[in-house]
Amino acid sequence: MKRALVTGGAGLIGSHLADLLVREGWTVRVLDNLEPQTHRRGKPDWINKHVEFVEGDLRDRETISAALDKIDIVFHEAAYGGYMPEIAKYVHVNSFGTAQMLEVIREKKLSIQKIIVASSQAVYSEGAGICPNHGLVFPPVRPIEQLRKGDWEVHCPICGAITKSAPTPENAPVGGETVYGLTKVDQEKLVLLWGKQMGIPAVALRYSCTYGPRQSIFNPYTGVIAIFCTRLLNNLPPVLYEDGEQTRDFSFVEDIARANLLAAETDKLDGLAVNVGCGKGTTIREIADRVSDALKIDIEPEARGEFRPGEMRHLTTDATRVRAAGYEPHVDLATGIARYLDWIRSQFSVRDYFSEAATILRNKGIVHQVERARQ
Ligand SMILES: NC(=O)c1ccc[n+]([C@@H]2O[C@H](COP(=O)([O-])OP(=O)(O)OC[C@H]3O[C@@H](n4cnc5c(N)ncnc54)[C@H](O)[C@@H]3O)[C@@H](O)[C@H]2O)c1
Ligand SMILES: [Zn+2]
Repeated sequence: MKRALVTGGAGLIGSHLADLLVREGWTVRVLDNLEPQTHRRGKPDWINKHVEFVEGDLRDRETISAALDKIDIVFHEAAYGGYMPEIAKYVHVNSFGTAQMLEVIREKKLSIQKIIVASSQAVYSEGAGICPNHGLVFPPVRPIEQLRKGDWEVHCPICGAITKSAPTPENAPVGGETVYGLTKVDQEKLVLLWGKQMGIPAVALRYSCTYGPRQSIFNPYTGVIAIFCTRLLNNLPPVLYEDGEQTRDFSFVEDIARANLLAAETDKLDGLAVNVGCGKGTTIREIADRVSDALKIDIEPEARGEFRPGEMRHLTTDATRVRAAGYEPHVDLATGIARYLDWIRSQFSVRDYFSEAATILRNKGIVHQVERARQ
């Protein structure tokens, strides 16, 4: 019987993964500090009865040492995520937390058999594009000066032509254009490098946008489907950044949990960074429309000319590598959104936290406004 540590196992992905591992007969320990931004009402009621739940911060050396005791496989899901206004906290939780965990494994000579780290497609600078003149190109992040003018397109780095979004493979340049993205690069590089040096198989799963039941309804900084739902349920319009035509690849949380189990069980992905997604881009405007249709709340989304520097325009997953190892997403967007809405309806009050957060994000320079044409 395998023994797993799931860090962040009270959260969206970690909790579904813990459920799956329990169903598969694993012994599961969860370490989670119940980050208040995500868990405003304390310990959630969905934590599986069969897991050993440890409430604690992975940045605490003693806590992580104890949590790693007698563990075979580490699923490192805990992270500080989204477009939060902090800078240092990302580095502390994500980069430092991961580095220290690896140090503890080395120091204590723990017989960990595999480490799977939750990375993100936020590690890319921009999604791949097809230039009419140059074919497949990897454009850099769009310059802020361009965005200020309200030009949202992704231009070819060679000739400047407008590119069309293409699936992004793992060998696309990895940059990290947000603090979050930067720390995800740190996490995956640390774990893969460490794994190689110490002979511990390691896999970095670069998830696409993940959604589903249990996605925090309190966190206005991340999770577009959850944010749009809470806006609409409060009779407020969803707010689109840019023009809402940017695309993302959405994965239902149970599919992401299955990808983790697969990564644990196969050796085909060892030592690699691996995209996990469905390979289909959906515009954020379409997400707003789908959510409002499904809720039967007819409020048009609003585009206020705001943008977030560092944000990608398009990201569609090239899932060739993970599919070759046997991964297949099971839940399509319509079914997944319906399941999320069923869950959200069971939550007794759904408040809008976005309006307040929007002001903070503007004041801290995370959300910018296009320049109005001078008179
Ligand atoms: N949801 C997505 O769209 C998405 C996409 C790509 C990657 N990821 C990555 O997947 C992982 C899981 O994300 P999620 O969507 O389930 O987020 P989540 O916020 O729902 O879960 C993260 C959990 O980690 C816990 N946590 C945070 N800091 C901690 C600390 N210092 N010590 C212990 N626990 C801590 C939180 O309390 C929370 O329960 C993260 O690493 C995230 O970066 C998520
Ligand atoms: Zn070109």
